[in-house]
Amino acid sequence: MRLLTAAITSMALTFGAQFAMAAPIELKFSHVVAENTPKGQMALKFRDLVAERLGDKVEVKVFPNSQLFGDNKVLEAMLLGDVQMAAPSLSKFQKYTTSLQIFDLPFLFEDMAAVDRFQQSAQGQELLNSLRKRGLVGLGYLHNGMKQLSANDPLRVPADAAGKKFRIMTSDVLQAQFEELDAVPLKKPFSEVFTLLQTKAIDGAENPWSNIYSKKFHEVQPYITETNHGVLDYLVVTSAEFWNGLDDEVRAELQKALDESIAYGNAISDQQAARDRQAIIDSGRSEVIAITADERQQWVDAMRPVWKRFEDEIGAELIDAALQSNN
Ligand code: SIN
Repeated sequence: MRLLTAAITSMALTFGAQFAMAAPIELKFSHVVAENTPKGQMALKFRDLVAERLGDKVEVKVFPNSQLFGDNKVLEAMLLGDVQMAAPSLSKFQKYTTSLQIFDLPFLFEDMAAVDRFQQSAQGQELLNSLRKRGLVGLGYLHNGMKQLSANDPLRVPADAAGKKFRIMTSDVLQAQFEELDAVPLKKPFSEVFTLLQTKAIDGAENPWSNIYSKKFHEVQPYITETNHGVLDYLVVTSAEFWNGLDDEVRAELQKALDESIAYGNAISDQQAARDRQAIIDSGRSEVIAITADERQQWVDAMRPVWKRFEDEIGAELIDAALQSNN
């Protein structure tokens, strides 16, 4: 009997110790921007909320500034299980779905409030599922802001961009947008943009204020034209294999923490854009060019043909739904 009791006690101790020592699940969150951006801040908020609420079960490790993966590699790495979460720009999913290309159509959304209304609409929410067939799960939209055009020379009207080389994200819609200007678009990773601009290997780029400021692009681009011609937002994404493999309670708690972190990132994105725009002006390194209504109309007219080129791929109904969000 004593032997049996000892054996049971020893087994209980062994299992107990193993249970107590079970390591938390590691959740690597990889992104390419700096920490002082809406995405950088959102990722840190998510890490902290998870530590507070699920500390013994999940540990979030955030890798900013392309430290772990660039955006062009991160989705492949996610499907291989090498990273569990990321928030690439909506422009970087075309290998996996054509529907998200809607966000790249120039001059589609009047402002960020319209972008938000569309994302929260039934059609916008449906787009979160557009990656399922490819093994990825869209968990929520995150804002950055409207894009501005920067260059070595002042760009007031579309003709000023003709012949110039612009860095773009990996999006055929963005490629078409610059082709309509008779400019030369080059698909390059975000991590290379500063050097490409500094060495004048390219002439210009399109970025939201927070990316321009946090990556110091304004120090190597003497002119920024305030075009607000398109949106740069993100999709927070994970792999179906990782997400479905989680315990139900853990998954629900992670989604809750994520929703709160996204709400936080979205709430600060407008102020951050305004602050970074002002900081760029105050730096005196780059002139911010305000265009007139007539000049703006010239940009609209030059870029609008892109919509027709991608209407079949994206869907006319979806484009209409996005336009409704401007009202
Ligand atoms: C990002 O904001 O995540 C990077 C966008 C870009 O590649 O321009």
